[in-house]
Amino acid sequence: VQLSTRLTSALGIEHPIVLAPMALASGGRLAAAVTGAGGLGLIGGGYGDEAWLRHEFEAAAGEDVGCGLITWNLANNPQLLDLVLEYEPVAVMLAFGDPAPFADKIHAAGSRLFCQVNTVREARAAVEAGADVIVAQGGEAGGHGTAARSTFTFVPELADLLTDIAPATPLLAAGGVADGRGIAAALTLGADGVMVGTRFWAAAEALVSPIAQQRAVAASGDDTIRTAAYDIVRNWDWPSDYEMRVLRNSFVDEWLGQEEALRARQDEASRDYRKALAADDFDFANVTVGEAIGQINEILPAADLIRALVTEAADALELRSLRADAARH
Ligand SMILES: Cc1cc2nc3c(=O)[nH]c(=O)nc-3n(C[C@H](O)[C@H](O)[C@H](O)COP(=O)(O)O)c2cc1C
Repeated sequence: VQLSTRLTSALGIEHPIVLAPMALASGGRLAAAVTGAGGLGLIGGGYGDEAWLRHEFEAAAGEDVGCGLITWNLANNPQLLDLVLEYEPVAVMLAFGDPAPFADKIHAAGSRLFCQVNTVREARAAVEAGADVIVAQGGEAGGHGTAARSTFTFVPELADLLTDIAPATPLLAAGGVADGRGIAAALTLGADGVMVGTRFWAAAEALVSPIAQQRAVAASGDDTIRTAAYDIVRNWDWPSDYEMRVLRNSFVDEWLGQEEALRARQDEASRDYRKALAADDFDFANVTVGEAIGQINEILPAADLIRALVTEAADALELRSLRADAARH
């Protein structure tokens, strides 16, 4: 089965499935596995640890992959983009900040600019900055984002906007897509493909503790929540618009609505956090997944996941067209 869309033609890939560049979780092996199975793998460059980035690009050698960076952090460390471009990434995804200052350099290096956006205003600005692909992120997504929009209404609104202002620019849906039904829904809503995070976080190749993965697959979408607490204990100075969707645990529950109190004991809390992380203690350390975790029951290799996603999506879309046919007769 093959799902061809404007995205697959634009990128020369088989399936319209892009691995989200999940900071530190989407390593080179996972990115290469997704590309190898016909999608596009993006390494999760995140805040840009240089040794980590070099190691992961080398782990992906032989497959065409891209890389994501957190834009507000890149603005403070612009040399990170030069390092990433050395590896001739297929695409660079920028999210959470203004991509405009970096667009020319990415294009001059022969790469493509993917912009993940959280509002219609940001989508317009990304088009203006020269984005080659727009990624619409809904608030159900795992990891950082905003609660501004949900995927279900954001994707069709942006699809219409792009038809007006940038008809050749493909649109990806991000947030909540973890099975073939989600892909079929995204394509039906006007997206040209999907960006998948949480489902691949629970892949065998992800750079994630198996203990965290087991805890997550037992959870429901009800068990996730948005919080700034982990940014406080990790000393990341995120702009206040953004919070991170994670699995609830004792730590998250303890500090819910108490961010100022947590900041007041930041040094001690950061030390405790690092200890918990080293000990795989996920009553404290973060399990970073989105609402879609409720649809995920097992850890599988990325290639198996892609095969299942594509087959289920094709079935769902076929079902839809068959039902439409039946209605017509
Ligand atoms: C563990 C994790 C880490 C993430 N890190 C980043 C990141 O560094 N940069 C980024 O643009 N998005 C990041 N995201 C968000 C993804 O790009 C994407 O929007 C999201 O995973 C899609 O929703 P889903 O998790 O429901 O598939 C992360 C998501 C997760 C689950």
